[in-house]
Amino acid sequence: MKFFLDTANIEEIKRINQLGLVDGVTTNPTIIAKEGKDFETVIKEICELVNGPVSAEVTSLASEEMIREARQINQWADNIVVKIPMTEEGLRAVHTISKEGIKTNVTLIFSAAQGLMAAKAGATYVSPFLGRLDDIASDGIQLVSDLREIFDIYGFETEIIAASVRHLGHVEASALAGSDIATIPGNLFPKLWSHPLTTNGIQQFETDWQTYQEKQK
Ligand code: E4P
Repeated sequence: MKFFLDTANIEEIKRINQLGLVDGVTTNPTIIAKEGKDFETVIKEICELVNGPVSAEVTSLASEEMIREARQINQWADNIVVKIPMTEEGLRAVHTISKEGIKTNVTLIFSAAQGLMAAKAGATYVSPFLGRLDDIASDGIQLVSDLREIFDIYGFETEIIAASVRHLGHVEASALAGSDIATIPGNLFPKLWSHPLTTNGIQQFETDWQTYQEKQK
């Protein structure tokens, strides 16, 4: 399974990247706005830091404008993926730009039908939003599982990115459901390698070792 970082924060990316855990990065207009930097500058910086796909989202809603934006964004780096919203206009844009070799991540997927439409239109990635489905008492993990089954039955090469990941359970369950990728917010990553019993165990070992050394004197 691959892990993407769902952030545009350079310090977070540098920190997690040092652990060899970052296979790519996803951003969206909200994430970019949070950093308060120029869009193109920050995306180019991330693309240099990370050895993997970096998603940058178009902000237009009409397909012709999306296509124009996508062609421009695609020139920023070799590892760019253009994020396109799941609409009719978005599908039209995906259909056109995917034939030009531009990689796409169709975002805001909330049903298996939407994921299927995006894959059929030529999407490189689809992003089902787990947390936002949970928010409306729906089952995001079931969606990942359904998409996995559909893509496998019909041989779609489109990769599934479990997005809107809010907690450790989302990561574990999306791994079990066969998601190709989980995109994880920077502040959640440390919780994936931490466990209170690990912390307690280390403290206990330290205490016991000190006691043992005292006795050796
Ligand atoms: C990633 O591609 C999405 O933009 C992101 O995971 C959305 O997460 P949120 O629902 O927490 O905003």
